[in-house]
Amino acid sequence: MILKANNPLPLQLMYLKELSLINFKNYEEAKLSFFPKVNCFTGNNGMGKTNLLDAIYYLSFCKSFFNAIDSQNIRYEQGFFVIQGSFEKDGDTDDLYCGVKRNQKKQFKRNKKEYERLSEHIGIYPLVMISPSDSELIVGGSEYRRKFIDSIISQYDKVYLEKLIAYNHVLAQRNALLKQFRQSNSFDSVTLELWDDQLIIHGDGILKKRIEFLQEFSQLFTQNFEYITDSKETVGLHYEPSTKDKDYRTALMTALAKDRVLEHTSVGIHRDDIDFTLNGNSLKKFASQGQQKSYLLALKLAQFEFIKKIKHTAPLLLLDDVYDKLDEHRFRKLINLVSSNTFGQVFITDTHSERINELFHEANVDVKLFHVENGTVNDISHA
Ligand SMILES: Nc1ncnc2c1ncn2[C@@H]1O[C@H](COP(=O)(O)OP(=O)(O)OP(=O)(O)O)[C@@H](O)[C@H]1O
Ligand SMILES: [Mg+2]
Repeated sequence: MILKANNPLPLQLMYLKELSLINFKNYEEAKLSFFPKVNCFTGNNGMGKTNLLDAIYYLSFCKSFFNAIDSQNIRYEQGFFVIQGSFEKDGDTDDLYCGVKRNQKKQFKRNKKEYERLSEHIGIYPLVMISPSDSELIVGGSEYRRKFIDSIISQYDKVYLEKLIAYNHVLAQRNALLKQFRQSNSFDSVTLELWDDQLIIHGDGILKKRIEFLQEFSQLFTQNFEYITDSKETVGLHYEPSTKDKDYRTALMTALAKDRVLEHTSVGIHRDDIDFTLNGNSLKKFASQGQQKSYLLALKLAQFEFIKKIKHTAPLLLLDDVYDKLDEHRFRKLINLVSSNTFGQVFITDTHSERINELFHEANVDVKLFHVENGTVNDISHA
């Protein structure tokens, strides 16, 4: 058991108190302070609501959720951007600084101290983003689904992450060898076997961990799906190894002739997938858009719960455009859920300020309401 093996430590309290931006996307300058619980960015399309979520995402992950190239987040025609945030965490205040200049290395500091490696920062301020691009998990290739589970497992299991890195390294070597064989019209089974042995050691370990994770994760996922949909529909997450029912070595051997022609390794944990089903049928092929959206929500809420249990901290939850395709009833259930004590700080975007305000008031929580217009933000909570 992954979760029960953890100490039942008390939850740490964590929230973002302040955020300030200079030249970040469409913001020339902005300074905001937040509620520890619910904060809502409202305004019309294209005004900069999602950009604010992205700035918060930067503080947790040292990068944009949307744009892998840092400099593309600099406001047009400017030379740099700065994002600063101050987090309250278990009674301490931590100041974070992220500065990007064109053609220079990104600077990321915590309490004025620059990190040697950004990987040291990731995980300290856990965050889950729920966004329309989550649909890639259903419609995208298998790499999206592997990445989804790998990123969660890596947060509690450093050995897993090391195995994954080692596996990818060995895989690249094996593929290079296959290419060399084909180009030089040669074959050397002894060298190939050396790489195979490594691939099998790491691959087998990764496979077992993924299956173990999915068993526990599925339970959280099912509970969340049932809550959101009030349904008795059955959902399933099934790991689909590309090795099928063969053991790893046999699968590699069986695929060898084909792999030599393709010049790459066609079976292994880098080709595995997760099958999403609703009532036993493929989610992608048969489910309605609202059902798919509910499924995605349940996946992300399960991710939230899992990380919360591992980190003993409720992650920040960013909800971008969640009402899209959800019916009123399901949307209300979501709002009630994230308003409860089991959740921490929440940031949500909506084009309708009255709707969101009402729903949170029904759920009995105070909301800090911001109006966003063309890169300016105003607190309208008391307007
Ligand atoms: N590097 C940049 N410099 C200046 N403006 C930018 C930059 N990157 C994006 N923008 C602008 O940010 C705006 C989009 O902001 P954002 O995605 O936050 O809108 P939104 O309020 O979430 O809208 P919607 O309701 O449609 O989701 C666009 O007008 C876009 O041109
Ligand atoms: Mg948006």
